[in-house]
Amino acid sequence: MFFSPAPAQPLPLAELHMHIEGSLEPEMLLRLARRNAVSLPTEDLETLRGRYKFDDLQSFLNLYYESMRVLRTERDYTELADAYLERAARAGVVRAEIFFDPQTHLENGIPLDVVFNGLSASLDSARERFGVSADLILCVERHRGPEAAERVLREALEFRDRFIGLGMDSAEVGYPPAPFKPVYDIARAEGLHLVAHAGEEAGPDYIWQALDVLGVERIDHGVRALEDPALVDRLVAEQIPLTVCPLSNVSLKVFRELGHHTLPEMIGRGLMVTINSDDPAYFGGYLDDNFAALRGELGIDEETVARLAENSIRASFAPEAEKAGWLAQIAAARGADA
Ligand code: ADE
Ligand code: ZN
Repeated sequence: MFFSPAPAQPLPLAELHMHIEGSLEPEMLLRLARRNAVSLPTEDLETLRGRYKFDDLQSFLNLYYESMRVLRTERDYTELADAYLERAARAGVVRAEIFFDPQTHLENGIPLDVVFNGLSASLDSARERFGVSADLILCVERHRGPEAAERVLREALEFRDRFIGLGMDSAEVGYPPAPFKPVYDIARAEGLHLVAHAGEEAGPDYIWQALDVLGVERIDHGVRALEDPALVDRLVAEQIPLTVCPLSNVSLKVFRELGHHTLPEMIGRGLMVTINSDDPAYFGGYLDDNFAALRGELGIDEETVARLAENSIRASFAPEAEKAGWLAQIAAARGADA
């Protein structure tokens, strides 16, 4: 073994798939609801926690979008991001590429400048305060359709220097990637990085479309890629990163239990996999909790953990010089334990 089961000094990790709204812990939800006079179905913490059980992606999204109503002011967004970054730093995260869902905030009456100002106030000083380099990826919500996606992207371009990429999330089945091509073409022309959720609940065809029609650089989730050998060959040949979220997959019943997760097979097939928390407040934990579960329930060994850490850094959109420094730290930790 390279490292002790719970390393005192965690390896540098990049978290590439997390939704900032999905880090809204029940305690903060209650606090913000009171502060902003937003009524909730319950104000009892334990009853609230009891609602965090899901049958599938849609049952989660219903609660996730409902909870976002408590976010009203710049301060709320700053506190939300601060809490995530502080917790992520303790998990070893040195780089965070953070999704946010502006369409729901707009629908809740929150203008884009409030969202951007609030999040930026946290992210811009995250390196000094938490040792985390952090950037935003704007997600369009696929259930609202491509025209609405194009509208919000164009509106957000006023804040072009505040985000580095475009992603696509929300309900997957029935909302294939291809119709969003015009939105991704606009983002590409703006020099934004391109990613998309695909192959979480829907099949490999959605991953093909994300690659070939949208031209994405990474696939978020992608666990259903294994069903299509030609797709696996393509993903392996081009080393296209798949941002896998193990605890999320179990919570949303993509896999019945962690022991049934196909992560070991994905790694064994040579896919470029990274580990992520997705919506840590809803799915039972942050990045270190995901790794602990992989060690404990899937028997992932420390050499594989180090490879996953390396993958996360390589797959990130951080500047190359910064990536080289973190990769050197991982190499040094491996050397020290070999
Ligand atoms: N929005 C937040 N989490 C999501 C997920 N796991 N899949 C799709 N949309 C999401
Ligand atoms: Zn996600």
